[in-house]
Amino acid sequence: MAIRNIVKEGDPILTKKCRRVEKFDDRLFQLLDDMKETLLQSGGVGLAAPQVGILKRVVVICTSQDKVKEFINPEIIETSGNQQSVEGCLSCPDIWGVTNRPMNAVIRALDRNGNEFTMSGEGLLAKAFCHECDHLDGILFTKYIIKRINPAELEERKQKK
Ligand code: NI
Repeated sequence: MAIRNIVKEGDPILTKKCRRVEKFDDRLFQLLDDMKETLLQSGGVGLAAPQVGILKRVVVICTSQDKVKEFINPEIIETSGNQQSVEGCLSCPDIWGVTNRPMNAVIRALDRNGNEFTMSGEGLLAKAFCHECDHLDGILFTKYIIKRINPAELEERKQKK
């Protein structure tokens, strides 16, 4: 496994639409393993393949403490409710903002063996599902910001919790 470099905002790769995964081979497994390691090291909640420079529909998300799940060719199939909360992105290290997102989301994807599964998420997890799937269509979370938050304000919010 290896840590991969995270592409930052401004790089055109982050605005491109990714291709569906057709081959479940060693190359894919290597990508998944590297993305998981990169995510765990970064301390983020999720990571999409274009963020490591690969235009494939592959996402990894921390679904619980230190548990990273793989989502191949993921799709959001259902959303409900609404939440406004602080959101950030590993590709935009200096940008934080309050976004409007669904409170609940259901994602459908394939695992590395090509088996389909669905998973429901609430709150942070629902937000991560939407955020990461958007990356695969070249969409950044900044599109959903209703209020920018400066880093000092973010620290204050963290301390209050
Ligand atoms: Ni992101």
